[in-house]
Amino acid sequence: MKIIALTNQKGGVAKSTSTLNIAAGLVMLKKKVLIVDLDPQASLTDFLGIPTEDSFDIYDVLTGNKNVNDVIVEKEGLSIIPSSIDWAEETLESDPYLLTNTFKDVAGYDFVLLDCPPHLGLLNLNALILADSIIIPIKSQIAPLKSLNKLFKAINGIKETFDKEINILGFLLTEFDSRTNLSKEVREIIAENFPDKLFKTPVRTNVSIAESISYNKSVLKYAPSSHGAEDYLKISKELIYRSKK
Ligand SMILES: Nc1ncnc2c1ncn2[C@@H]1O[C@H](COP(=O)(O)OP(=O)(O)O)[C@@H](O)[C@H]1O
Ligand SMILES: [Mg+2]
Repeated sequence: MKIIALTNQKGGVAKSTSTLNIAAGLVMLKKKVLIVDLDPQASLTDFLGIPTEDSFDIYDVLTGNKNVNDVIVEKEGLSIIPSSIDWAEETLESDPYLLTNTFKDVAGYDFVLLDCPPHLGLLNLNALILADSIIIPIKSQIAPLKSLNKLFKAINGIKETFDKEINILGFLLTEFDSRTNLSKEVREIIAENFPDKLFKTPVRTNVSIAESISYNKSVLKYAPSSHGAEDYLKISKELIYRSKK
């Protein structure tokens, strides 16, 4: 079982979108996948149309109220541990191993994908400590290096404080538009700085991706022949390949 965190403290870089669609791609490739919504904004839960009230979720797991296996919801062929919008990271016990301890009971999946919140707090720390590797989604329309430096500082801090290696599975370019110089520049910057770490396929800007969410589906199900579906399926294949290396 490979546990992979999709993390970047910047919001709006397609962490949740990529968690959903990579998971859908992996399922299409016959893998058993669990996705985890670690964000108190509950976007991923919302993308799948799972009600965020009145059900048990990741908060109940992190507070020890529920066993992790009792909160898994099946939706659109995916297994998800949902989040809800009525909790705050600050109310959790300040323990970096909360998630790791609760995940001891999780088994039977090929991949677990953790959708991280957009700031480097306790939840991201918990995710990075549990994960075998990370995927860093990067929006191809903004200069990425400043925010990456912040992330690397955090990663190095974790290395030193918790003696935990964090393996970067890959940088994933999102909202890529090959007609713009900026997208090309962003790709060059990452390829130069991290030659083996860039996912070969970028996710092109694609309206079906945004639309699919209103239908509570992955783009692979909503529009199987769209650019979005094509890109995410390729990325899922590459993820399988990269995670074997
Ligand atoms: N390739 C894409 N093409 C078009 N829209 C996209 C694409 N990827 C993401 N988006 C849109 O960008 C917004 C932010 O994505 P989201 O996954 O919520 O980011 P994050 O989880 O990093 O905050 C969403 O409205 C999503 O529909
Ligand atoms: Mg998100």
